[in-house]
Amino acid sequence: MKLQYLLFALFTVFVIQVQANGGYDDYEQWEHNFPDTCQELFKTEHCNECQSLMWNHFKNPGQCATAFNLGRDIFEIIKDSGEEPKPYDLTFFKKGLNKYCHEEFHCSQDKVEKIYNNIQKVCKHELSVKFDWSDNPENFKNITAYAAYGTLLTYYTGIPAREALCTKNKHNNGDFYSFEFIEKLTQWVKNETNADPKAVVTHDLKFVIKGNGKKVRVPKSFFCDPCWRKIAHIYGDYIKDHRLKKSVEKNIWGSCHDLEKLYLPHCTYKRGLGEILKDRSDSKLSERNANPAFGVLSHRMNKLHSLAI
Ligand SMILES: *[C@@H]1O[C@H](CO)[C@@H](O)[C@H](O)[C@H]1NC(C)=O
Ligand SMILES: *[C@@H]1O[C@H](CO)[C@@H](O)[C@H](O)[C@H]1NC(C)=O
Repeated sequence: MKLQYLLFALFTVFVIQVQANGGYDDYEQWEHNFPDTCQELFKTEHCNECQSLMWNHFKNPGQCATAFNLGRDIFEIIKDSGEEPKPYDLTFFKKGLNKYCHEEFHCSQDKVEKIYNNIQKVCKHELSVKFDWSDNPENFKNITAYAAYGTLLTYYTGIPAREALCTKNKHNNGDFYSFEFIEKLTQWVKNETNADPKAVVTHDLKFVIKGNGKKVRVPKSFFCDPCWRKIAHIYGDYIKDHRLKKSVEKNIWGSCHDLEKLYLPHCTYKRGLGEILKDRSDSKLSERNANPAFGVLSHRMNKLHSLAI
């Protein structure tokens, strides 16, 4: 039986993917038949340097690989439960997050910087491939290039992602900000798509794509949500302090400025009405033609990793 109907929510960099169908359709197949060589994974006769480097990171991710490690914890909890996750049910995500945040985390800036700089160097060609991050992730056909972005971002955001995922909101029963936000977003997707189990959220968090291919815009007011802003600032500050190569940054989210405009817009707050986005920044944003993605790592990448270890 295929695990078709699964909601899998994964924080990736800035991008939170609330996937009704977590791409688990081929999960079981992978579980029984996971590639045990780099060549098999990338379906090639000879792995190039970048593919070999990624393969090594999948096999031996270390603690800096926050998104991989969270994904592994969620996957293990699903496996141990023996249950099939239901669409739009965040139970497993919540348990996995709890488990992950109680584990130790040792990752120094020095160490992680060496790792991500090396990925930028070794995977230079792969990281020059341009993707439209508003597209359905199914359409990213160059798996090597796609995996290169995912691996780079996993390490690059290892330190801020840990903090963003695991910071608790003292004002609200001490739940994680990350969980509160993802819960709201999930509810919205569920309602908006009539609980379509095939709905996917694009990597740039701009759209939900329904099973029938129809795209629905994620309201920008989500970027004014206090929980979102809390976590977005953690990433934003890190990204400003620790820069990637210009060309790579450009392929991922345009400039730092674009990134902030989209994910940390100016918001005004009105009592009783919740948070309202300022119209000015809103209309400008819709004119953008670049498609920034705060993050790229997908459930697909995560699956690769969870099963590789
Ligand atoms: C993926 O991109 C790399 C880097 O540009 C290129 O060498 C490779 O041929 C591409 N692979 C596919 C399947 O298009
Ligand atoms: C749920 O979705 C419907 C139709 O897309 C919309 O009209 C309605 O306002 C939504 N309700 C909530 C609470 O978001």
